[in-house]
Amino acid sequence: MRSVPPVPRGVQVVAHRGASAHRAEHTLAAYLLALEQGADGLECDVRLSRDGHLVCVHDRRVDRTSDGRGVVSALPLSRLSEWDYGHWHDELPDSADDLVRQRVAVPSAQRPHRGLLTLDALLALLVDAASPVRLFVETKHPTRYGGLVEAKLVAMLARYGLARPASREESPVVVMSFSSRAVRRVREHAPNLPTVLLLARLSSARGDGSLPPWADITGPGVHLLRRNPGYVARAAERGHATYCWTVDDPADVALCQRLGVRYLATNAPAATRSALTDR
Ligand code: G3P
Ligand code: CA
Repeated sequence: MRSVPPVPRGVQVVAHRGASAHRAEHTLAAYLLALEQGADGLECDVRLSRDGHLVCVHDRRVDRTSDGRGVVSALPLSRLSEWDYGHWHDELPDSADDLVRQRVAVPSAQRPHRGLLTLDALLALLVDAASPVRLFVETKHPTRYGGLVEAKLVAMLARYGLARPASREESPVVVMSFSSRAVRRVREHAPNLPTVLLLARLSSARGDGSLPPWADITGPGVHLLRRNPGYVARAAERGHATYCWTVDDPADVALCQRLGVRYLATNAPAATRSALTDR
């Protein structure tokens, strides 16, 4: 296995569910386009299938993003893999499958550019990437799976030699969750993996920029920064870099850059990159 390239410095553009403005989210086609567009990082959501496989699906059910129906955690990988996860978004030519096959070995999917993406396949893409790229993995749904998703995630990262980076700053993988409990579990399983605590609101406990000791990076939604522009500086004073989601509007890109946000999660990596000034 090739070694993972070093992590880039400066403001980092993170492709949210891949280049999901242009390709169906969480498909290999979306991640390959993100790499083509020069993303510094890739974001993905992971859930457990019934038989314990980590799959990249955002919703509890597959209904919105595939032509199948059902709850991810109630279905085995074999069944989840039967469906098409790209038809609802874009029509790519069949040659897109050949392009994917050239980059990643995807044994089961008939149409790999729009098949179900497993975390295993995404890690293979990361390890094979020609230029440095960082993976931001968000665990869903921490209470439903009772900690299993974090344990499985760390075990899979260990198989790729990614669970014990020399330091958190150099780690090619970052683990994120809206659940403080889930982030804590990751820290317990893999102390050197950097962690993001995602925030959908600034509670009284978090508004001052503080985080629990098991979280390194703060992850507010961009809606929070529009209303609380001083938050990024307060977090920085406490030693926490900011990861902001989801930053597609050029006005939000400018705001984040002005405030000193380090990681911009965006559905359109190329547009966000070009909206950054003097990068
Ligand atoms: O990158 C974090 C962001 O993805 C959190 O929200 O709902 O898109 O997973 P969501
Ligand atoms: Ca996410």
